[in-house]
Amino acid sequence: DWTMEAFVGKEVARIRKLVGDKGQVIGAVSGGVDSTVAARLMHEAIGDRFHAVMVDNGVLRKNEAVQVKETLTKGLGVNLTVIDASERFLGLLKGVADPEKKRKIIGNTFIEIFEEEAKKIAEAAENSPKAGPIEFFLQGTLYPDVIESISFKGPSATIKTHHNVGGLPEKMKLKLIEPLRELFKDEVRHMGTNLGISEELVWRHPFPGPGIAIRIIGDVTPDKVRIVQEADAIFIEEIRKAGLYRQISQAFAALMEGRAVGVVGDQRLHGHIIGLRAVVTTDFMTANAFEFEPAFMRRLTNRIGNEVKGVARVLYEMTSKPPSTIEFE
Ligand code: XMP
Repeated sequence: DWTMEAFVGKEVARIRKLVGDKGQVIGAVSGGVDSTVAARLMHEAIGDRFHAVMVDNGVLRKNEAVQVKETLTKGLGVNLTVIDASERFLGLLKGVADPEKKRKIIGNTFIEIFEEEAKKIAEAAENSPKAGPIEFFLQGTLYPDVIESISFKGPSATIKTHHNVGGLPEKMKLKLIEPLRELFKDEVRHMGTNLGISEELVWRHPFPGPGIAIRIIGDVTPDKVRIVQEADAIFIEEIRKAGLYRQISQAFAALMEGRAVGVVGDQRLHGHIIGLRAVVTTDFMTANAFEFEPAFMRRLTNRIGNEVKGVARVLYEMTSKPPSTIEFE
């Protein structure tokens, strides 16, 4: 009968056989549970012949790149390259207000950078006597993604490309490895715990590929990114302190369009408006706003107003999905 331990053992053996003694694998990691569990499993199977790549696109959560590096390198021993491409992304996003354009810029630039890095790693691999060329691409596809792509695109297209790396494996002539493709999210979490990944990471809320760029209504600037990162970090810290993190499916701060009049000391301040969102959902297709205690809200909004420079007003979004969405754009 089926146990998680047996599944891990079988999957590790399958990967070893598939990749061979010298084969190498490359894959993107984001700091989320799926890519972390998949990376940990690959490391278990083939050690440093698995190359994880993380692209810092400048619109990640506060300190995210540093934390992911800590967790994967020090914590899990994964062979990881972090590429700081913040300036490149923010340069391309400058003056862009349309959310779909932001998504395209971030998606395409991610692929470009990942490709550049994959080429470098592949060249280094060719010159290494101990290992062969990179032939495989890791993808953290889960069972629901497999089902979704079958029903949406017909049975011939069973592979739903990761929202961040669409088209890449084909372009680079890489074969896909999808160790999580038979698992549901709760099984991936269980597997992560078994593989020694921290509870905090295993239960982390989802975070969109385009990151904070789609949580800033209008154009993205470094100062706006800083404001959202700081407000978001305070929001999540307060949620954790109140023991509410696991009850909430997703929570984040965003920057609303326009300005609000506020007051700092005896000065009027023409400041930014933060919008907070916390939802409870099982499938992310429908969702309800989480109802915080008034005392929690008072403490939270005071903290954000006092600690995040440039914020004049903090709002909490109560609309359900539908008619609203979870993200603000
Ligand atoms: P919405 O806003 O559509 O969000 O109610 C549902 C879930 O999808 C996530 N989301 C995205 N994830 N790229 C992503 O990787 C995107 O462009 C994107 N837009 C929304 C959102 O965070 C929520 O979990």
